[in-house]
Formats: sequence, C-alpha cells, structure tokens
Amino acid sequence: MERMKRVLLLLLAFTVLLMLPEASATKFTVGNNQFWNPNINYTEWAKGKHFYLGDWLYFVYDRNQASVLEVNKTDYETCNSDHPLTNWTRGAGRDVVPLNVTKTYYIISGRGFCFSGMKIAVHVEKLPPPPKAAPVKSAAPTLFSQDRILLMPVVFAIGAAWDAFIHFW
Ligand SMILES: *[C@@H]1O[C@H](CO)[C@@H](O)[C@H](O)[C@H]1NC(C)=O
Ligand SMILES: *[C@@H]1O[C@H](CO)[C@@H](O)[C@H](O)[C@H]1NC(C)=O
Ligand SMILES: *[C@@H]1O[C@H](CO)[C@@H](O)[C@H](O)[C@H]1NC(C)=O
Ligand SMILES: *[C@@H]1O[C@H](CO)[C@@H](O)[C@H](O)[C@H]1NC(C)=O
Repeated sequence: MERMKRVLLLLLAFTVLLMLPEASATKFTVGNNQFWNPNINYTEWAKGKHFYLGDWLYFVYDRNQASVLEVNKTDYETCNSDHPLTNWTRGAGRDVVPLNVTKTYYIISGRGFCFSGMKIAVHVEKLPPPPKAAPVKSAAPTLFSQDRILLMPVVFAIGAAWDAFIHFW
C-alpha cells in the first residue's frame, strides 16, 4: 500500500514537471532585439501579443539616457513624467516590470524620450482557463491555481520524486 502511494506520487511528480514549460510566465523583452529605444512604435510591437497576469516586461536600454516610468493614461498620452505612479528605473539600464495586476500599464521614458516614441501601453489579462486535457487535474486540482509560477508544486514534485526514489529503490 505504502509502495503504491509512492509510485503514484512519483508519477504525479513527473507529470507536473512535464507540464512546467506550458505553465511558466512569459518575460517579454520590450522591442525584441531593438530593445527600449527612440523611434520604435511600441504600439506596433505590442499588437497581437497577449499579456497575462504573472508575465514580465523587460526593458533594456542605455542607462545614461532613458528610464522606465509607470504613469497614468493622461500622462502617457501627453508624455508627462513629472509624477510617475512607479519609477521602475533601477539604474543599470535593465529593468523588470512585473505585470501582477489586471489593468493597463502605461509606461514611458523620462527626459523627453517619450516624445520620440518611448512609450508603451500594455493591457494585462487574467489567465485563460487551463487546457481541458490536463491529466493530473482530477488527482490534484489545487496544483493548478491561477498562478503560472508554480513554485510550490515544483518543490513538492521534486521532494516527492526524491522521496519515492529513496524508498522505492
Ligand atoms: C504606431 O502604430 C499604431 C498602430 O499601427 C498607429 O496607430 C500609430 O499612429 C503609430 N504611431 C506613430 C507615432 O507612428
Ligand atoms: C493623471 O495624473 C494627473 C496628475 O496627477 C492628473 O491631473 C490626471 O487627471 C490623471 N489622469 C488620470 C486618467 O487619472
Ligand atoms: C527614477 O529613479 C532613478 C533611479 O533611482 C532616478 O535616477 C530618476 O531620477 C527617477 N526618475 C523620476 C522621474 O523620478
Ligand atoms: C505587484 O508587484 C509590485 C512590485 O513587486 C508590488 O509592489 C505590488 O505589491 C504587487 N501587487 C500585487 C497585487 O501583487
């Protein structure tokens, strides 16, 4: 009986591990290989992309020039950087913005670069419902919460796999 349980745990662990790629959050490099620079249409860049809760925006730029400021809609439209909601600038020219709220993020660069096109609006959606054919679902529904960073299941899976490995062999 105990052995059966461990085999089941082992199976569950591997299933979870196999499903991980699908479950991971997306880190979008803003502008792809053109990064965060003037004279790029970021509306075009964002077009057709889906941004989900738990995803990230990654800004790569010249730290001596640009910045990453979250502003409200009005300030986005007018390129006003006088009262940012959040200053995501950390100083290295490599900034990550976690998209952890379902809303539209308005992000601009300071120092006038917004007027050269360094502005982006990103609408963050809730995760779509998980695919129907998730084999583990009935066995462990709590493993598949809305979070796409499934840290607990991973820890659990690795622990269970190790445990099963030790005892089974
Ligand atoms: C950027 O692209 C959008 C969507 O195609 C377009 O509506 C907008 O006018 C463009 N902006 C600039 C500054 O060219
Ligand atoms: C954005 O902030 C400015 C300054 O605080 C304010 O005047 C404006 O009404 C705000 N716009 C929105 C859409 O909240
Ligand atoms: C944002 O933070 C950076 C780094 O701390 C700082 O240099 C910059 O002046 C800030 N910008 C605004 C508009 O607050
Ligand atoms: C979203 O992330 C920011 C930065 O890490 C944090 O300050 C904020 O509390 C988070 N909000 C939610 C709703 O988790």
